[in-house]
Amino acid sequence: KNIVILISGGGSNMAAIVRAAQQGGWRERLDARIAAVVSNRADAKGLVFAREQGIPTAVVDHKQFATREAFDEQLACTIDSFQPSLVVLAGFMRILTPGFVERYQGRMVNIHPSLLPAFPGLHTHQRALDAGCRFAGATVHQVTAELDFGPILAQAAVPVLPGDTADALAARVLTQEHLIYPRAIADLLPAL
Ligand code: GRF
Repeated sequence: KNIVILISGGGSNMAAIVRAAQQGGWRERLDARIAAVVSNRADAKGLVFAREQGIPTAVVDHKQFATREAFDEQLACTIDSFQPSLVVLAGFMRILTPGFVERYQGRMVNIHPSLLPAFPGLHTHQRALDAGCRFAGATVHQVTAELDFGPILAQAAVPVLPGDTADALAARVLTQEHLIYPRAIADLLPAL
């Protein structure tokens, strides 16, 4: 089964998924292939890693489109050219139109760096610190029309430690993201 991964930046979650696929474990079982990595930014660092791994990459630059609808239409064309069973959002920093979300309903997932439904949106780690949370974490969820809200597929929690900064907390959470995202995808793929 083909997977297309969408990124906007560093792509460490994407890299974790690629590595999990290369290591075999779930690749043999699920016959999954990272068909492409697609970014809305040509300078996304993760594209370099993907190319080094021999994975096809594509850039659909949102700044070239007058509307979200036009961008999403081109994005969908690009994604569909790789015939994915699953679309994986991995640090993809664009809000998607309802039409786009509907097109991939049930076969698009996202990872968000909070224990949803707490702290959807941006600056999750600082908000968790400000709220005095004792635990933070990450959530893998199905993508639905509402931002950071679909059915939860996996979560991991980490402690908030005394003296934590947003960056320190983010790094602790990110380590867990790299573990739960490949696993959640492995669990989901057989049903697609
Ligand atoms: C991750 O924390 C992810 O949960 C959030 O953005 C970050 C992306 O990191 N949506 P990376 O690009 O996967 O390294």
